[in-house]
Amino acid sequence: MRPEGPVKVGILISGRGSNMQSLVAASQGPASAYQIALVASDKPDAAGLAWAAERGLATFALSPKGIGKPAYEAAIDQALREAGVEVIALAGYMRLLSGEFVRRWQGRILNIHPSLLPLYKGLDTHARAIEAGDAKAGCSVHIVTEQLDDGEVLGQAEVPILPDDDATALAARVLVEEHRLYPQVLTEFVRR
Ligand code: GRF
Repeated sequence: MRPEGPVKVGILISGRGSNMQSLVAASQGPASAYQIALVASDKPDAAGLAWAAERGLATFALSPKGIGKPAYEAAIDQALREAGVEVIALAGYMRLLSGEFVRRWQGRILNIHPSLLPLYKGLDTHARAIEAGDAKAGCSVHIVTEQLDDGEVLGQAEVPILPDDDATALAARVLVEEHRLYPQVLTEFVRR
């Protein structure tokens, strides 16, 4: 049996961390089903890491450069466990986790991806949706498996693609939905 109280979530980021910020904001109400126990990054200079540290959140930064992926992931895993993390939320984390890491956290890692999965796994999702002539785009929160942007989709949000859209304009419209969707799906996930 897990202890009473909010589920402890660890967030992994690589950059600006706007999705991390929306997860943090939603965790700060008294009735939140989760709390942020750690924000960790593979990029010690990630803007989101400074934002989290300024707000008094526990942070951990380590670059895999020079130490290799196994040692890097072992250190991240240890930091997450020491913080009591139960569920990991990837939020703009730009590295593929190894099968070993994913198996250790089986079914307990979530990711947000800026497309309507299973469409457009990987990078440049917005440009690819425009190029394909799609009428709509969106974002998906899914369980992380060993395959890139694969795994059970837990929730999606759609936006229209407008005639004058470029990738930047579409990304901004999708991002608004990401910030709404991720806290909502994470809350449902930790309650289930
Ligand atoms: C988001 O669009 C997310 O869906 C994708 O990378 C971007 C990260 O943005 N995986 P941010 O760091 O959360 O601002």
